Amino acid sequence: MIVCVCHRVSDRDIAIAASSGCPNFDALQDDLRVATACGACRDCACAIFEESRVQGGGQHAHSMAGAIQILRAA
Ligand code: FES
Repeated sequence: MIVCVCHRVSDRDIAIAASSGCPNFDALQDDLRVATACGACRDCACAIFEESRVQGGGQHAHSMAGAIQILRAA
C-alpha cells in the first residue's frame, strides 16, 4: 500500500527501513522523504514505522490495521 503519495513510499518501504536499523522518524524522513511534502501521510507513516520497529520489521498486519483506522478517522 502506498502511504506517501507525494514521494511514492509504501508501507513495505517503511517496514524495511525500520528493520534495517533506521533509529527514528526523522531519520526515516531523511532516507525516504516520507511526510516531507504535504504531510498528510505523517500519522499513518509514524504508526507503521513504530509498529514495524516493535515487530522487528517483520509482519506488520497490526500496523496496517492501525494505519487504516488513522486514515478512516482523517
Ligand atoms: S502524502 Fe506524504 S508528504 Fe504528501
